[in-house]
Amino acid sequence: IVVVYKIKVMNSCLQKNAAQKSSDQIVFLSDVVKGLGQPQKKLHSKYFYDENGDRLFQKIMQMPEYYLTDCELDIFENKTAQLADFILGNENPFDLIELGAGDALKSAHLLKYLSVAGVNFTYMPIDISGNILSVLDQNLKQQIPDLDVKLLEGDYFKMLQRAMDVSDRRKVLLFLGGNIGNMDADEAYSFCCELHGKLNKGDLLITGFDLKKNPHTILNAYNDPHGLTASFNLNLLARINRELDGDFNICKFQHYQTYDPVSGACKSYLVSLKNQTVSVGEHSFLFDENELIDMEISQKYEQKDIDKLAANSGFRIIGQIADSKNWFVNSVWHAV
Ligand code: AVI
Repeated sequence: IVVVYKIKVMNSCLQKNAAQKSSDQIVFLSDVVKGLGQPQKKLHSKYFYDENGDRLFQKIMQMPEYYLTDCELDIFENKTAQLADFILGNENPFDLIELGAGDALKSAHLLKYLSVAGVNFTYMPIDISGNILSVLDQNLKQQIPDLDVKLLEGDYFKMLQRAMDVSDRRKVLLFLGGNIGNMDADEAYSFCCELHGKLNKGDLLITGFDLKKNPHTILNAYNDPHGLTASFNLNLLARINRELDGDFNICKFQHYQTYDPVSGACKSYLVSLKNQTVSVGEHSFLFDENELIDMEISQKYEQKDIDKLAANSGFRIIGQIADSKNWFVNSVWHAV
């Protein structure tokens, strides 16, 4: 009976996963059809991250040109006490929630520091990938066996709501990696307002911002000589072919990267190399030669942009920690 029950439970989990998967595919298809149907064709960079995209992004982070990861790691490795001081300003126990935790490479330094100091907190990593969360869990069990961890697999806001519901301890939210840069100004504003709406007064939000710097340094990080950023972009077309029954001819598209040092927008496009028609399932799309698909923004910030974003979305900046080159900053915000 126990075996039958276990099989039933497993089946229902599988069904749930399959149902979730197919609803994700429906949203993916509708976003792609909508994006390619606009006068300025557009695909959303959140779809870059399938298995192949994850692998490419790991390689991008290891390129010498892609400075962002090293800069933020510098902060978490070498300025851990400063980060901890902001968090421990209020002595009450807390939940440390990380949005898009991935393998927690950077935050692990902070977790170790707090743990060794005997601080009372629970770490709640949120990620859409259950796979990466189980890797993270195993790593943390080895590195910090006493750490109290609650894994939250799924959508950022749904999981954040769950974290708010399971405990009424104060919250410290981490949003690292410069991921805020992958939103345009309106999206970043709505995102921060939505976070503010979920948090309570006095909770903290620590966000990583990539700063404006020598424009060549920024452009080289994305227009890389290894062609990895190009493959990262083109992989989305291959993903559409695989998952949505598309027929993009990948060789007929070329990556093009721009950086505008005035606005701070670093943007990637794919250029159609000829007049062509592409099908995605039952839908077809005409491309003119040299027509662009807008693929991703990686916005670079100035202090005044960070100040404005915080104030407009209901936060007060209580501190800021930069890396040794002053290229990247973790900004600490207090919900008011
Ligand atoms: C995840 N995100 C912060 C990266 C960035 O720098 O915008 C994604 C990326 N795109 C191209 N290279 C890296």
